[in-house]
Amino acid sequence: MERRQSDGPGQTRTSHGCKQRFEAERGGPAIACSPTPISRLLGSESDPDQAAHSTDGQERGPRRHPGCWKMLTVAMCMALLGCLQAQELRGHVSVILLGATGDLARKYLWQGLFQLYLDEAGKDYSFSFHGAALTSTKQGQAFVAKVLESLSCPEDVAPDRCAELKGQFQRLSAYRHLATSEDYVALSKDIEAQVQHGGLREAGRIFYFSVPPFAYADIARNINSSCRPGPGAWLRVVLEKPFGHDHLSAQQLATELGGFFREEEMYRVDHYLGKQAVAQILPFRDQNRKALDGLWSRHHVERVEIIMKETVDAEGRTSFYEEYGVIRDVLQNHLTEVLTLVAMELPHNISSSESVLQHKLRAFRALRGLQKGSAVLGQYQAYSEQVRREQQRPDSFRSLTPTFAGVLVHMDNLRWEGVPFILMSGKALDERVGYVRILFRNQAYCVLSDERWVADQSQCLPRQIVFYIGHGELGSPAVLVSRNLFRPSLPSESWKELGARPGLRLFGRPLSDFYAYRPVREQDAYSVLISRIFHGRKDSFVTTEHLLASWGFWTPLLDSLAHEVPRLYPGGAENGHLLDFEFGGAQLCFSQQQPEQLVPGPGPAPMPSGFQVLKAKYRESPLISAWPEELIAKLADDIEATAVRAVRRFGTFHLALSGGSSPVPLFQQLATRHYGFPWAHTHLWLVDERCVPLWDPESNFQHLQTHLLQHIRVPYYNIHPMPVHLHQRLCAEEDQGAQTYASEISALVANSSFDLVLLGMGADGHTASLFPQSPSGLDGEQLVVLTESPSRPFQRMSLSLPLINRARKVAVLVMGRVKREITMLVSRVGHEPKKWPISGVLPSSGQLVWYMDYEAFLG
Ligand code: BG6
Repeated sequence: MERRQSDGPGQTRTSHGCKQRFEAERGGPAIACSPTPISRLLGSESDPDQAAHSTDGQERGPRRHPGCWKMLTVAMCMALLGCLQAQELRGHVSVILLGATGDLARKYLWQGLFQLYLDEAGKDYSFSFHGAALTSTKQGQAFVAKVLESLSCPEDVAPDRCAELKGQFQRLSAYRHLATSEDYVALSKDIEAQVQHGGLREAGRIFYFSVPPFAYADIARNINSSCRPGPGAWLRVVLEKPFGHDHLSAQQLATELGGFFREEEMYRVDHYLGKQAVAQILPFRDQNRKALDGLWSRHHVERVEIIMKETVDAEGRTSFYEEYGVIRDVLQNHLTEVLTLVAMELPHNISSSESVLQHKLRAFRALRGLQKGSAVLGQYQAYSEQVRREQQRPDSFRSLTPTFAGVLVHMDNLRWEGVPFILMSGKALDERVGYVRILFRNQAYCVLSDERWVADQSQCLPRQIVFYIGHGELGSPAVLVSRNLFRPSLPSESWKELGARPGLRLFGRPLSDFYAYRPVREQDAYSVLISRIFHGRKDSFVTTEHLLASWGFWTPLLDSLAHEVPRLYPGGAENGHLLDFEFGGAQLCFSQQQPEQLVPGPGPAPMPSGFQVLKAKYRESPLISAWPEELIAKLADDIEATAVRAVRRFGTFHLALSGGSSPVPLFQQLATRHYGFPWAHTHLWLVDERCVPLWDPESNFQHLQTHLLQHIRVPYYNIHPMPVHLHQRLCAEEDQGAQTYASEISALVANSSFDLVLLGMGADGHTASLFPQSPSGLDGEQLVVLTESPSRPFQRMSLSLPLINRARKVAVLVMGRVKREITMLVSRVGHEPKKWPISGVLPSSGQLVWYMDYEAFLG
């Protein structure tokens, strides 16, 4: 580090080297007793760091004259005690930046610490900043000196004053080589000596981990064992992502860190929480409560877009990126954090970290589980080649890591149910921009011709609120509110109205359509967060609970997509519309088909619609076979026709539905394409159920609820879930759940004869929850039985075979290649329900129809 013999302006150097600074402009004193100036006075031989290391950074053995150095320090600082005691300081804060010579430190963290010093040093606290790394002392000092020289002041600080402030900060900052546990002990002692001899009270220590996660455990152990401050002072450790790779690894890392630090001591950084527009979401919602109260819900919001587009690619970082990909790198953390800030219930007091964190956690818990179809993935074309080059992979290597993802998220709560939250991020896209856009529904009709629509009067213009995170056309963070919504209130000391920018259009509208605000002073995210660490604002950081909740949400999707081939895109503007996507229900898909995926070789590939529905016989009953899409469409049509006939004849339609995955597309088809279905007169029954609570994702009823019930209008009293959960226990014989269900059927279904029972066929020949070698339910009087399954959950409830066979119509749906073998087998066997329960399905007076897709039927 550069050595300075004289102090900068605005400081009075005492003859002993500790400094009392009067910051006239700030109106308050900032006092520091830093080891660096002392060691400078003593010359390089007495510098504790330099004494321990040669100039090339090699360990030289024990320090020279450590006792002498300490005595001198003590003597000098004691002499100053009188003058220091005159200052009324709340305490001294030591900031230890670990990884001080790294990229993040160079680009953002030193600047953030300087900003902290500028903001706080005049207000009762004194500081010292210790840059630490494994780099040799000489190199580290040179590096840090260079970085400190490049620090900048806010625009409103005059150059002279800036130089003076930088000088002060430089004198408070020192580099030290920090590697062994002895180094940590020495660091702690130096801080103690500094505080004690300066006559200061230690307020706290901040350890900023700007190091790779594999280094966490060692550093954490050292801090915990020898660098904790004494009683009454706080410890804050700041951690940078990645915080694990999935739920399990995040949990392991959290447990490991939990062995060293208390939850309140850990500050996990998500730098998006420090972006000014993101940090403004809650205050904005708070300050505009009145206007937003009626607007911030599913009744008014059409969709929410949370977007982070980048033009850069992953070149130079592929070793990290290969392991993470865009979902782990950006969506799991940055975009999810933003999503929760938009979606969470607003606490009464947003300045209470605890309430904010609690409300945020509830938002996490309301996230509906994602399925494979909730995401689209892409990869820029040059990516695999970059990985091959950077990681010496063979020419044949093709990466599956997505560099682009669009994900459709839904929340299961009354405020947001049904509102699509679109999360999207990608590398090598056409522009760099980040924003959260809340688009409101438009329910107005405007009589005046659209040329006469005036931005702040016409209800027909789009209504939107945008938290513009940065870059893009605007080039700065901003908050935009359509003029036809309301004039927002923002704190005038930190946000000002944006000047006119003629010709600038955002989100399809001229800028003049919005009330638009930008920060009075633009601040980097890290500066914002460092200030919040200092103020102990835990709500700007990721707690262990939040972290695990987020991984809990993303991990199943990541698992299901692990082998998915991402769509290749050329990068930049050339992407055209290739990555555009659209959604319907819970599914997301690319808007454009990728031609090469449809046509694998020369000549046109057969299209599913080119095939006819095949009619034949299977086990002497009608068989309908087709490609899956046609098959499901045909089955849905047949069910609707049966329902319409039943309602016409009897006034009601009793439909019993099976669980499992095969009927899911059928439910979706019924939910989205069958507007003529007589739902109001339909009773829905369950063919079988797993002995889990009805809200459990494994429950058949939950499947039905997710894919069908929530999209249609069936009277509540027409829905008949199986009573598997009674008296707080599951499927206990003594609770008589099976008998209760049977009574309900007898009471409501004429002759206990369902109009239609939909069954499936398991690969072992089971149907409903009647399993081979399980005696119950195959014959006898019982209408509903408890059974045992060979796979989890073992306990089940099921309609019995005799009850199924009383139905007017039974449809058996069999889909997929995995069913091929059992389909072949069952086609040959006779009536052997003990071995193959499906072979016992034969309605006594009703009709049986098999619906099989080609894969199941033809292989
Ligand atoms: C980081 C990701 O967390 O955020 C990077 O690891 C990404 O891949 C970066 O480029 C984007 O941050 P910003 O602040 O440039 O939007």
